[in-house]
Amino acid sequence: MTYWEKLYSRTALDLKPSPIREMLHVIRKPGMISFAGGMPDPDIFPVEQFAEASGILSKQGRDVLQYGTTEGYDPLKEFIATWTEPRMGRKTDPASEILVTSGSTQVVDLLNWSLVNPGDCIVTEEPTFLGSTLNMRNHGAEILTVPCDDEGMRTDILAELLEKARREGKAVKYIYSIVNFHNPLGCTLSMERRQKLLDLAYTYDVPILEDDPYGYVRFDGEHLPSLFSLDNRGIVLFACSFSKILAPGTRIGWCVGNKEIIRKMAVFKQGVDVCTSVVSQAMVYEYCRLGYLESFLPRIIDHYRKKRDAMEEAFRRFLPLEEVSWVKPQGGFFYWLETPRIEAKKLFEKAVENNVAFVLGEPFYPNGGGLHNFRMCYTFASPEQIDEGCRRLGTAMKELLR
Ligand SMILES: Cc1ncc(COP(=O)(O)O)c(C=O)c1O
Repeated sequence: MTYWEKLYSRTALDLKPSPIREMLHVIRKPGMISFAGGMPDPDIFPVEQFAEASGILSKQGRDVLQYGTTEGYDPLKEFIATWTEPRMGRKTDPASEILVTSGSTQVVDLLNWSLVNPGDCIVTEEPTFLGSTLNMRNHGAEILTVPCDDEGMRTDILAELLEKARREGKAVKYIYSIVNFHNPLGCTLSMERRQKLLDLAYTYDVPILEDDPYGYVRFDGEHLPSLFSLDNRGIVLFACSFSKILAPGTRIGWCVGNKEIIRKMAVFKQGVDVCTSVVSQAMVYEYCRLGYLESFLPRIIDHYRKKRDAMEEAFRRFLPLEEVSWVKPQGGFFYWLETPRIEAKKLFEKAVENNVAFVLGEPFYPNGGGLHNFRMCYTFASPEQIDEGCRRLGTAMKELLR
């Protein structure tokens, strides 16, 4: 044992790195077309507009270079309260109901600090976003999973799971749901199931973390009401982020919820990072104040809709259609594919030989599964790369089936 190993905490001894982050090294080779990382397209970053917004530094440098309040930069919180009013169903109170965070990833961490003792349970969809389950594991949570279909979480199975957990005396601390354009599934929770999910949360007295970084990136159809707006008992905590609607390098996310839990999370945040970068919050605020969030969002949506369509078309053209299934996402960043006769791991190796990469399904299953699934992100690659990458993927599949 090394000097440091002897000192590691139990959590550190169990710690596993993110398989996706690790895999990114394997696929970083010349000529590779990657659909692996869930990254925005840098070509659509509003670089000039953001540079203009950074002018706030020369105007208000004395304030924005100082430590800020843990709860967040007041003008940004006021903007968020107003801008999100239609989605939240009412204007939320920036002083007590909103917490600005270092990416929405931090919302999960702060909620876990506030609610989770080692051994407590959190309910998630299966599969679900790996970044969140990694954090849940850091807090020693047991993850109970509910399968999904095209309409999102199977609330009939959730009902059974909550009943069983209650019988067994398990402490279920919250339900984590990615309601819109799920990562990795691409599906959206239907209206009927939104209501059912809330009813179950009330019946079993379990709060909900509604994680919604993709909700504003809708290509087709109508927006569905957020769980937060449907909830009249203050048990839904809503998390969102500027990562997909502006740029992830800002590292600005936020959450909206009942003032008691917001306060508790803010107190934990004092000891985690004091406050989210005030420089970054101020620049994001200025960008929003100048009207660029509103004017740029339709361009982002349009840009990604074209890429989604390019991938749909390329799938139909190049993949062996009888061997693979998928559902066309109405927004967000991802396609989720199922290949019942092909193991995703074998396909990955073959695909990398053919210079195309995706993410395996397995890491998105907290309790195992997904051996015949994989995720394809369409936002990063160009339409030409999407076409060529899917052609290579189709070749890899056909080679394996031979
Ligand atoms: C479902 C989900 N939640 C949260 C995040 C984290 O976003 P942020 O960059 O705001 O930390 C992501 C990022 O990919 C995501 O897919």
